[in-house]
Amino acid sequence: MRYSCPQTVQPRPSTHESPGNGDLMRAQAWQWEGLLHISQNRVAVLLLAGGQGTRLGVTYPKGMYDVGLPSHKTLFQLQAERILKLQQLAEKCHGNRCTIPWYIMTSGRTMRSTEEFFAKHRYFGLQKENVVFFQQGMLPAMSFDGKILLEEKSKVSMAPDGNGGLYRALAAWDIVGDMERRGVGCVHVYCVDNILVRVADPRFIGFCVQQGADCCAKVVEKTNPTEPVGVVCRVDGVYQVVEYSEISLATAQRRSPDGRLLFNAGNIANHFFTVPFLRDIVNVHEPQLQHHVAQKKIPYVDSQGQLIEPDKPNGIKMEKFVFDIFQFAKKFVVYEVLREDEFSPLKNADSQNGKDNPTTARHALMSLHHCWVLNAGGHFIDENGCRLPAIPRTAAHGQPEAVTAGVVDNLKDASDNPIQCEVSPLSSYAGEGLESLVANREFHAPLIIDEHGAHELVKNGL
Ligand code: UTP
Repeated sequence: MRYSCPQTVQPRPSTHESPGNGDLMRAQAWQWEGLLHISQNRVAVLLLAGGQGTRLGVTYPKGMYDVGLPSHKTLFQLQAERILKLQQLAEKCHGNRCTIPWYIMTSGRTMRSTEEFFAKHRYFGLQKENVVFFQQGMLPAMSFDGKILLEEKSKVSMAPDGNGGLYRALAAWDIVGDMERRGVGCVHVYCVDNILVRVADPRFIGFCVQQGADCCAKVVEKTNPTEPVGVVCRVDGVYQVVEYSEISLATAQRRSPDGRLLFNAGNIANHFFTVPFLRDIVNVHEPQLQHHVAQKKIPYVDSQGQLIEPDKPNGIKMEKFVFDIFQFAKKFVVYEVLREDEFSPLKNADSQNGKDNPTTARHALMSLHHCWVLNAGGHFIDENGCRLPAIPRTAAHGQPEAVTAGVVDNLKDASDNPIQCEVSPLSSYAGEGLESLVANREFHAPLIIDEHGAHELVKNGL
């Protein structure tokens, strides 16, 4: 479908908030509330990890990917450690030992290797019973002319049914029942490929709870009309994500009086749902969700039995989308965050595309962590002992943090060649608690900060 009529497509939901609009007290209140819910075992996280990662081009699940950080941690490990740290923060703030159950949706393509990977790494320090794997459904893949493709001579090529396959899988595996039995009240749902994801972000949770929302989308500001990202908006009075390809260029280019794009709520697949809302979806609404057609590269055997690996899309997969349930929310709200703090997806291989690849993901994380160290009073010096220029504060959004990543004296050089700095999630979830390790100290990069302290890798010969 293509939307161009401004009467039917409306840009913003009525409640659209941002933690960075300068009101530190409010952000702290959300954080406190979110940590309270976590400390009462009322918050779960749900990872969408059933995709095939065809653009990245690996044969294993994307969460097992190592983007080349100094620590070589995989996406799964970073997320697991953020959960561990958050449990500690909630306990420290509210005095209760607590658990954040982690539900991991896999597919026929990723289930076995994902489970084996977690077992091999002893669930990265989490308790096995709190990491719950379940599996989404699969559908046959087709060529553009509607023929079923074969994966082997006598085997139909099957593909996962999209991240919106979540809702059928929640029912099939009684996952909502498991949440209810554990007393979980709300869930943070997110994609495996965002290296900066703030898993169960307490501010986000606290905001949603205070709003009394049953459904919330975390978004980043879309600044370029042609950026290929879906936007959260209202169509005929109903909230949904409209894909960039579904809005005409003229509509995408419309601006508000303040100069920002009118359709600027860029969807980053970070959602808050209450458990009663998910119960309703599973029991009532799921059958109403439509399939979308996704054009993909699908390996197949030809009539001679030869395996063909296409280098461009050659067929379609039928997919449901996770955000298609927004329309059923009783209270839907939007929460905007800074892209450089929270969003850097891993979609493509380095060789393919200059965007959203292992290099950009690695750089995004290291730039952010560099900012955290500067904010905590640390400094970086070069080989001559001269201090490297600090990153200036951005006035935009009046972030509570003193510095935000991405705004640098020499933006291009910094993003092409960021200071190598990595903070373990076990040391800091979102930049907090680093002062005692770095304040008034000078470091050479590469720097790793972990639960044992701050280490310069070169000095230590690592
Ligand atoms: P993408 O749409 O980017 O797909 O998934 P992908 O499979 O990771 O990559 P490509 O398109 O094949 O290159 C966004 C998120 O949705 C999950 C993915 O694992 C990722 O976290 N997903 C996608 C599922 O869980 N199931 C699916 O059927 C599709």
